[in-house]
Amino acid sequence: MSQFILPYFVVQGNGQKQPIASMPGIYRFSIDKLLEDIDPVVAQGLDKILLFGLPREKDELGTEAFADDGIVQQAVKVIKDHFPQLIVMTDVCLCAYTTQGHCGVMTNDKCQMSNDGVTIDSEATLEALARIAVSHARAGAAYVAPSAMMRGQVRAIRKALDDNSYQQVKIMAYSAKFASSFYGPFREAMNCSPAFGDRRGYQLDPRDSQAALERIRIEIDEGADMVMVKPALAYLDIVFQAKQLFNKPVAAYNVSGEYVLLHGQPTLIKEAIIAIQRAGADYIITYHAKEFI
Ligand code: PBG
Repeated sequence: MSQFILPYFVVQGNGQKQPIASMPGIYRFSIDKLLEDIDPVVAQGLDKILLFGLPREKDELGTEAFADDGIVQQAVKVIKDHFPQLIVMTDVCLCAYTTQGHCGVMTNDKCQMSNDGVTIDSEATLEALARIAVSHARAGAAYVAPSAMMRGQVRAIRKALDDNSYQQVKIMAYSAKFASSFYGPFREAMNCSPAFGDRRGYQLDPRDSQAALERIRIEIDEGADMVMVKPALAYLDIVFQAKQLFNKPVAAYNVSGEYVLLHGQPTLIKEAIIAIQRAGADYIITYHAKEFI
């Protein structure tokens, strides 16, 4: 079993392998091209991928995120047909699917700016996240990975999965997800920058390690099978503490901005990955994964 998890960006269409300007060496693939790319890495021993989908169209409620023929749902089905052993993990969020580019739903009367960001309708968002998770499970995902930082997201998803007889589907919770500038290149890749405001209203304050550890504890209580710290390199103290304090596998997400900093410098990449391992991460989500399997 590999410690590495490779993220993939998947788009609609055929024959697409679109270079991402902000992330050299990384592409958005249509499903057919994605299969071609996965084939050799699976042969080398990669056993886990994390899928992000770019919808054909965005709308206010992010409906393509939970459509059974949505891009991620289609991709999971085809990937599982071709690589039945591969553990497919799916990002569960709304920001790539909503026109406002936030990780949650805003109803008109609640769509107000607050000082530190925006106000999100948490009830509608939890309902949407649960629907997304169930649709991914139906397609064949082994893990769903809620990344919206909505309070109660793990509980809502666990309940929806259980109610729909997906008890075996696990949750990798983005529990300690900081409001980070290291996500910049990813937002260009996914076309998911907020149309207004920022994500500080729901992502964690980089100065507040206690809040991060508390959120991890809460999401484990709610039913997370694996917890994540994100970004990785700038937050190794949190990875270390999460590993010491809790009895759950910890994943560290070596994010897009960290990828770009080290891209093309194999010795630096190796040393950085060793640092993440030394901090205690059980799993490492990284765009460099192909270099380590
Ligand atoms: C969506 C999401 C983001 C990332 C993963 N899921 C962006 C964000 O929260 O703004 C970032 C990943 C990366 O930078 O590699 N909620």
